[in-house]
Amino acid sequence: ALISLRQLLDHAAEHGYGVPAFNINNMEQMLAVMAAAKKTDSPVILQASRGARAYANDIVLKHLIMAAVELYPDIPVCMHQDHGNSTETCLSAITNNFTSVMMDGSLKSDGKTPGDWEYNVGVTGKVVEMAHMVGVSVEGELGVLGSLETGKGDKEDGHGFEGTLAHDQLLTDPDQAVDFIGKTKVDALAIAMGTSHGAYKFSRKPTGDILAMHVIKDINKRLPNTHLVMHGSSSVPQELQDIINQYGGEIPQTFGVPVEEIQEGIKYGVRKINIDTDCRMAITGQIRKVFAEKKGEFDPRSYLKPAIAAMQKLCESRYELFGTAGHA
Ligand code: G3H
Ligand code: 13P
Ligand code: NA
Ligand code: ZN
Repeated sequence: ALISLRQLLDHAAEHGYGVPAFNINNMEQMLAVMAAAKKTDSPVILQASRGARAYANDIVLKHLIMAAVELYPDIPVCMHQDHGNSTETCLSAITNNFTSVMMDGSLKSDGKTPGDWEYNVGVTGKVVEMAHMVGVSVEGELGVLGSLETGKGDKEDGHGFEGTLAHDQLLTDPDQAVDFIGKTKVDALAIAMGTSHGAYKFSRKPTGDILAMHVIKDINKRLPNTHLVMHGSSSVPQELQDIINQYGGEIPQTFGVPVEEIQEGIKYGVRKINIDTDCRMAITGQIRKVFAEKKGEFDPRSYLKPAIAAMQKLCESRYELFGTAGHA
């Protein structure tokens, strides 16, 4: 059945687990997530970015969600708009069966200018008012995603600020978080703590100076009942980098968010963990492998089947490691 993010995260908080939110753009990714959820008995968050909606088409996406629910009637599914940039985007998601929306007011709707406090509170509060009327949940974001190594806001995928920011602008301020929750009444809060989108998060295995886990702990102390969201939380596993490079890829060595750090976050209120890059890499590795090993092959199923299997395996492991497994 389709459920709201609030319903799912309240259950996760009560039972002390986290839920990976996997980005989907097509049938293969939907099938991979759902098969992994079935195998591990996990509740599901599927999320679509604005780019995903443009790529797949809203009507196709709507029916993909309906297919997921019809295929797996026993698995709770939340369908979430990832990084909505305006009230219009959030409203059109709702009319297309989404049960949760992110209003990302940390940036202006151009996706480049940091949103100021009044803008963020205003637009996010407005989306909450509309969404709650129809039982849809809202995720807000405070602070700018980006690298504490470079001082740059996240920009790789066009979601972020391009200039250099002061260290503290790249981190969510706990006092502001309290105020933001009180004013907007969001169901979940995305926080900035040194992660960024994409594969190139850290140039070394992150330690406390570049992955600010203390932000989570400080906010959780002040807001113990608020569901926290970690964006940019792919772990960028070495073995996925290696498979891609073994079969002709050229991915420079990089480091993601270690699973142990996410597990630590889950102890301090992190309930939703956004993962896109790891799934992309799992898929790409298998497609490269088939292309390299079977040069006469041209049936898309020959490479999409192993691609689905690799993404499923990644998703299963996150369901197990985040404690989601067994809670469907
Ligand atoms: O927010 C970032 C997600 O990885 C979605 O990326 O906008 O390229 O679909 P996208
Ligand atoms: P990754 O790029 O680390 O997978 O992050 C995805 C994300 O935060 C989507 O909102
Ligand atoms: Na999101
Ligand atoms: Zn994100």
